[in-house]
Amino acid sequence: MQASGETTSPPVPVDTAASTALLAWYDAHARRLPWRRLPGEARQEPYRVWLSEVMLQQTTVAAVGPYFAKFLERWPKVQDLAAADDADVMAAWAGLGYYARARNLLACAREVARLGAFPDTEAGLRALPGLGDYTAAAVAAIAFDQRAVVVDANVERVVARLFAIHDPLPGARPAIRVATDRITPDARAGDFAQGMMDLGATVCTVKAPRCLLCPLRPHCAAFAQGAPERLPVKAAKKAKPVRKGRAFWIERAGAVLLVQREGRGMLGGMRALPDDGWSAKGDGSGVPARGEWRSGGVVRHGFTHFDLELQLMLCAAPELASLPAGEWWPVSDIEAAGLPTVFAKAARLALAER
Ligand code: ADE
Repeated sequence: MQASGETTSPPVPVDTAASTALLAWYDAHARRLPWRRLPGEARQEPYRVWLSEVMLQQTTVAAVGPYFAKFLERWPKVQDLAAADDADVMAAWAGLGYYARARNLLACAREVARLGAFPDTEAGLRALPGLGDYTAAAVAAIAFDQRAVVVDANVERVVARLFAIHDPLPGARPAIRVATDRITPDARAGDFAQGMMDLGATVCTVKAPRCLLCPLRPHCAAFAQGAPERLPVKAAKKAKPVRKGRAFWIERAGAVLLVQREGRGMLGGMRALPDDGWSAKGDGSGVPARGEWRSGGVVRHGFTHFDLELQLMLCAAPELASLPAGEWWPVSDIEAAGLPTVFAKAARLALAER
């Protein structure tokens, strides 16, 4: 089925034939995942579906597993999460990245607790604070079995190939959405969405897709054209700028000084080492306290829009009167501070350098 680009149609029309084949494949091959109910089992709680879908954005299934378990153990119901301290939730999220998700998670949990339950329609879900198009569609389909068009990166790849959409991403997204809409069934939309995700993760993979195992092969325009692995085409990425900054490990009596980052900026709300504001300007202003300083090496970390080179500075005997506001955290328990990955790397370096 041709949405744009080169010619040749698939041998069989898509529409319901594709979803029927996909659902039959999902019935036999669905991955067992901690947040998932398999075909035929009772529906999963909306809280669990929502939590997993928020965590899974930009994060792999393998990385999400332990976080999902930890959150559910600590906050088994959405009301528990709504009542949690912001700092505890931010610390529990540490390491998953994209911390705006954790702030949005809390705002959303509090609104759901106020409402009494999750809305059961895509539009109702979309109206919740911090809940975007993708999550609204995924939760409506998976938790409430509503027909919704769910497109994540895996689905995007499967559909770009199925319809041989040759326009580069991200410009091709509207065409991919329209094409996904065409094959989304009225019934079992949640299973269909998860089946498409599983197919993308296990069969219709980025490199070397396993087309001989694919239930959609008879319908696949890219397979018919002979080079499915070339799709989707991605627009060339701009080189990421490198920012430089400094972070400060200030230690006294077995404790290190940690600060809470400002609510709205990069890593907002997270506990962190004091730094020189690299995220704002990276102009390398002076050390934050008087004392004897030495260099502790450089930490490199990739963020979405830039790479950071963070010079670590160590001070073992700060002058107390000159210190920034913060909390003294026992160095031996630094793992429990919930530092975001860039500062966890800096802490590891500091511990190795002391
Ligand atoms: N990625 C995002 N949501 C997912 C889900 N429900 N199952 C598998 N992979 C996913």
